[in-house]
Amino acid sequence: MSERNFPSKSVRAVAGTNIALVKYWGKRDAALNLPATGSLSLTLADFGSETTVRFASDAAGADGRDRVLFGGAPAEPRFAGRVQRFLDLVRDLASIELPAEVRTTNSVPTAAGLASSAAGFAALALAATRAAGLHLSPTELSALARRGSGSAARSIFGGFVEMAAGTRADGADAVARTIAGEDFWDVRLCVAITATGEKAIGSTPAMDLTARTSPYYPAWLAAVPADLDEARAAVRGRDLARLGAVAERSATRMHACALAADPSILYWNPATLAAIATVKELRAGGTAAYFTIDAGPHLKVLCAAADAPTVEAALAATPGVVRLLTLAPGPGARIVSEG
Ligand code: DP6
Repeated sequence: MSERNFPSKSVRAVAGTNIALVKYWGKRDAALNLPATGSLSLTLADFGSETTVRFASDAAGADGRDRVLFGGAPAEPRFAGRVQRFLDLVRDLASIELPAEVRTTNSVPTAAGLASSAAGFAALALAATRAAGLHLSPTELSALARRGSGSAARSIFGGFVEMAAGTRADGADAVARTIAGEDFWDVRLCVAITATGEKAIGSTPAMDLTARTSPYYPAWLAAVPADLDEARAAVRGRDLARLGAVAERSATRMHACALAADPSILYWNPATLAAIATVKELRAGGTAAYFTIDAGPHLKVLCAAADAPTVEAALAATPGVVRLLTLAPGPGARIVSEG
């Protein structure tokens, strides 16, 4: 299509973040961002990214590149560069060369181990492809979003989602799919934020360091398939104790593996440990609550919807917990306006 006739339109998409219950930690191919193992997550409602994209000859910034705005202000260069490289993939797919304007707002505290990149690249993949005139299937969108961030492949889908490592060299089968929709099971994730500010080391370099230097990395990889089988069966059977046990095991093994890297990667702080103790006390007192921890110091606690107030109260009373959010399962990425 001649770019002069390109039907420029502004497309806005939203996506919820997701929290992995069986973790992704390590890649089989860094260039295509292919995960070394599968993973299993829950996509969350009301907690994610909204992104608006428009390709047009007048969309570029003063430097002639894509204009990337974050929360209404020019994005910092590292984030803008990541977005621009992702837009290059979309331009290649659509055979266009036009610059884009991207406006993103996040309702996830950025880079705090709350997976803002998952929601961000899922919303960007959907908005940018539509704005470029493409209509990709959810599976194709998942493969594309993965190029931005591995966990983003899962936020294309709602509810409980399983991501496949895939075996193909081109990554076409390294995609996610819903295994149980957002209405299947009324669980909650109570997020106990235990620090403010950015995390010590981003997940991409941390995974790389772990894979290169942790003597436990091969053992970590070997354990994931059984965890996935167990988690999938637990979700299908709506068995919270079974899912919680595998989620805790997956998280603690991931952190143990990273802790054994050289230099060591330690995401936890004293409040993380205090919150873990709270979860164990809740369980000892008969409340079914199970934690997971991502590349940051915060705890995400899985429980039944009816138990969420009890879990919240206990976490709120834990020294060092600065903020609490309780989140329900949510839908996959979707377009909210186009025109
Ligand atoms: C601990 O998806 O942020 O949250 O693919 O390098 O962008 P990149 O990594 P990213 O890693 C997520 C790591 C994790 C576990 C998970 O979400 O599965």
